[in-house]
Order: sequence, then structure tokens, then C-alpha cells
Amino acid sequence: MAEAVDLRSDTVTLPTPGMRRAMARAKVGDSRRGEDPSVRALEEHSAALFGKEAGRFFPSGTMANLCAVAAWTRPGDGIVASSASHIAGRESPAVSHLASVVILGIDAPEGIFSAEDVAEAIAAAPRRVESNVRLVTAENTHNAGGGTVFPLAALKRIRTVCGKASIPLHLDGSRIFNASIASGVSPASYGKVSNSLMFCLSKGLGAPVGSVLVGSRDFLKDVRSIALRIGGGMRQAGIVAAGGLYALRHHIERLAEDHDNARTLAAGLKEIPGVEVINAPVETNIVLFRWKMPSMGLPAFREQLGAGKVLLEDRGFPLFRAVTHLGIGKKDVSRAVRALREVIVGRGS
Ligand SMILES: Cc1ncc(COP(=O)(O)O)c(C=O)c1O
Repeated sequence: MAEAVDLRSDTVTLPTPGMRRAMARAKVGDSRRGEDPSVRALEEHSAALFGKEAGRFFPSGTMANLCAVAAWTRPGDGIVASSASHIAGRESPAVSHLASVVILGIDAPEGIFSAEDVAEAIAAAPRRVESNVRLVTAENTHNAGGGTVFPLAALKRIRTVCGKASIPLHLDGSRIFNASIASGVSPASYGKVSNSLMFCLSKGLGAPVGSVLVGSRDFLKDVRSIALRIGGGMRQAGIVAAGGLYALRHHIERLAEDHDNARTLAAGLKEIPGVEVINAPVETNIVLFRWKMPSMGLPAFREQLGAGKVLLEDRGFPLFRAVTHLGIGKKDVSRAVRALREVIVGRGS
């Protein structure tokens, strides 16, 4: 029986044989003491890619974002984020509890807001929440928005508004390389427009663990002490950092294949009667789609689709997310479309 076509997320990617070899060979040391050469190599490579002074390797994007927020703010401050962003959603308990900030959400279509939205949020904060905005965050690509690329021109205008108010701009670049490959904008340009930037190694890049936060040396000094306070000090982390460095060297350009596969998937889904692709045209590796008039509930749908070994992420049935990645080829895309057609329209359709 064929393996499952797992389209739930790009976090399900597995390390490749080349990556595993790089990890097995990695020179390691006590990273908490700054003595792990592989962690240092990853941090230096990451900082250079984005034109920043320094970087810090984290076990997760959640922890890296939290430390960035805490380093830029004081308890009680406001931060601006798109309402549907990861920071305002899944990470909000962490940032509101551990960094003690209030999140001012902007309801932005596909997660892309404007400089005017930011100016308004900054002006409104004192009366809305008895607080001042001390940080603006933008998610690029925007996950819940459907892998949308935050246009560089919009980020530049936002940065100008932030600059006038002496407020830093942090990019949650969990999937920044998808944005870069799709838009042709270099990582260095995203680095230049932001004061700090986090990216994940463990998503489309295919590394098993980790994220990197880049910024100025002073900022990273603050980040380090916050990270250590919350248990983010790692020891021989070079084994996993080496997987991340391998991913940066070998897996960025190939993200174009994932984007191609996502567009093919969206085109196939559009051909299924009763299915609507929400985020057409698909920009990167995420496809959002809806089964308009479902003839069964989620458990039956899951069971029938599961029998064809296709896995999707339920985004509030009958809305789904499908994500293409390192482990998904053209044949998998065809198999997924076929299986969905069979479940939705019936066999032989
Ligand atoms: C946009 C975005 N930011 C941050 C994160 C958090 O990353 P991690 O799962 O490594 O904590 C995710 C995870 O899915 C994400 O999609």
C-alpha cells in the first residue's frame, strides 16, 4: 500500500539522507556556553543571509517570536499583528502571559495590512486598550491567509510609519523563503525592511527542529537572556543545527517545486464540482478550499479520504488547508485530487 499523501502541513517533512549525514557528522559543543560550532555556523549563516549582525537558534518559532516580542516591549505594551496571524492566535497565550503585552489585531484580508492600518492602530491604542504600541509584527508568508506574500512595497511603507513612531517592525518569517522564492525578493531585502526577523527551519525547508531569530547584536543580547530565563538554553544542539544549515544550503531553491505543485493541486480541486478554492491564484505552498455543500459530516469524510490515504487539515469543516512540501511530488498531487473527487462526487466520476 502506498504511503499517505500528507498535505496537513509542511511541518511533516522528514530529513533527507543528505541532511541526516550532515547531522551525523556535525561538530558539537555546549551551545549554552556559546561553544557549539555547528550552532554558531547556523547563526552566522542566517544573520549573513538577512544582512543582520547576529542570529540565535531556537527550538521553535513560537519561542523565537515570544523572545522577540519580550525583547522589544515591556509588560503592558501593545503590539500590532494581523488578527489571523500565528502571533495573535496560537501564540497569543504565550505572548500575553509571558511577555504581558496586549495584541491589537488588524482584520486584514489574507493577512496583508497597510501602513494606514498600522498608523490607525498606533493612534487608537491609548483609547482602545490604555496602552501604547511598542512593536509591529507582520507574517510573511501569511499562513491562515493562504500562504500570501506580504509585498515588499507594503512592508517598506509600514516600516516608514513605524520609524516615525520609533516602533520596531518584527517579521514572523516562518515561511520567509517561500515568500522570497515566490516574489523574487531577496532574504536580505526582507532583513533590511525589518528590525528583527524569525524564520523556521522545520517547515518547508525540511529540517527536523528549529527556528532562527536575526537582528542587531544588542537586540540579540536581550533575546539571549530572555531565552535562557524560559529554558531556551540548549547544549549539543549542533546535531539539529547542522540539519538546519544543510536545509539553508540545499532546500531553498526547491521550494519553487512546492509552489508549482500547490498551483497544480488548486487547478485540480477547481475541476471538482462543488469545490471552491479560496485563495486562488495560489501564491506559495498553501491551498485553502471549501466543499460548498457537503453530503456527509467530517468524521465520514475523514474516514473515506483516509481510506485513500490522503490527509488534509480541517480548518473548520467544510473548509480545508492543503500544504505542499518536500515529501510531495506530482504523482501525490494527482492521487490527492483523485481521492477527493471520489469522496466528493463519487467513484467513476
Ligand atoms: C506563521 C507561523 N509562525 C510561527 C509558527 C510557530 O512555529 P513553531 O511550530 O516552530 O513553534 C508557525 C507554526 O506553524 C507559523 O505557521
